[in-house]
Amino acid sequence: MTWTLDQVPTQKGRLALITGANIGLGFETAMALASKGCELVLACRNMEKAEAAKVAILAKHTKTKVTCMQLDLSSLKSVRAFATAFTERYSKIDLLINNAGIMMPPFSLSEDGFESQLAANYIGHFALTGLLLPLVVKTPSSRIVSLSSMAHRWGNIRFDDPNFKNGYNKREAYGQSKIACLMFAYELNRRLAKAGYTTLSVAAHPGVAATNLTQHLPAFLNLFTPLMGLVLNNASHGALPTLYAALGDDIKGGDYCGPKDMRQMRGAPIKVGSNRASRDETAATKLWAMSEVMSGVKFLS
Ligand SMILES: NC(=O)c1ccc[n+]([C@@H]2O[C@H](COP(=O)([O-])OP(=O)(O)OC[C@H]3O[C@@H](n4cnc5c(N)ncnc54)[C@H](OP(=O)(O)O)[C@@H]3O)[C@@H](O)[C@H]2O)c1
Repeated sequence: MTWTLDQVPTQKGRLALITGANIGLGFETAMALASKGCELVLACRNMEKAEAAKVAILAKHTKTKVTCMQLDLSSLKSVRAFATAFTERYSKIDLLINNAGIMMPPFSLSEDGFESQLAANYIGHFALTGLLLPLVVKTPSSRIVSLSSMAHRWGNIRFDDPNFKNGYNKREAYGQSKIACLMFAYELNRRLAKAGYTTLSVAAHPGVAATNLTQHLPAFLNLFTPLMGLVLNNASHGALPTLYAALGDDIKGGDYCGPKDMRQMRGAPIKVGSNRASRDETAATKLWAMSEVMSGVKFLS
């Protein structure tokens, strides 16, 4: 049976924290959760954009509780400040949706010295998850959803040069960041289960969805973005695998959700597979150790 949001019971009394919720898949995920009565925290790097998203959500779902909080995932200082502020304000998290991301920008290093895609897409979310884990694991039926991509096949973890200091390949760097998100989701689930927690760690990808993610691709390709939304997914369809991973009642820890048609590019959300490298448990252990050193956040180890 096709999974749809209609099957989801009310989410009143639950709290979702969504990164990069001002636009694209994160915004559509937030909007859908609001339609179910879930309280939202929009964790965004630009507060003006976050407030605009809040206004748009409240215009449709007037009774939703929505709070905007500043978070720049490419800065560990910002991630720590966010986690402190969040923990002072809230005592639980039902859904942590690690959604924010960038794709194939020109080479730059974050203020912490990490390649920008690895920093924002992966290391920032690793640190955020670790810092907020005490709130997540004490919340019954909680889930952590990590956004990966079909592009997890484009790269591998470059343990000897994760920051591309010896030559940048933007496609490979995006692939590295997205396979890291997927390996993290799987490894986090193994570690949560081993520690006896009931929180599920799951992953999702949207197939191909027309969003701002393509902003760093050549301008002529961006002309086709609206068409891509018609032929493949618009942002609200693209959010369905994330919502299925977060809310589906047949979801198990370690599941990976994506669209079912056109080789996972579009369609209704189902459980999907991922490549062999993403399931390499030895590499995942090594990645976890490297991430703890890079982020300075140690958990479940
Ligand atoms: N669209 C697709 O086809 C596709 C395919 C596979 C995977 N994905 C994944 O889906 C996720 C969402 O992407 P999208 O398509 O919705 O892209 P999008 O429309 O560009 O949205 C990305 C969101 O991430 C935020 N963000 C970027 N860098 C950030 C940082 N350093 N700190 C905090 N927030 C940051 C953006 O904020 P600003 O608005 O301020 O830039 C925006 O809110 C990403 O993880 C992406 O890799 C998307």
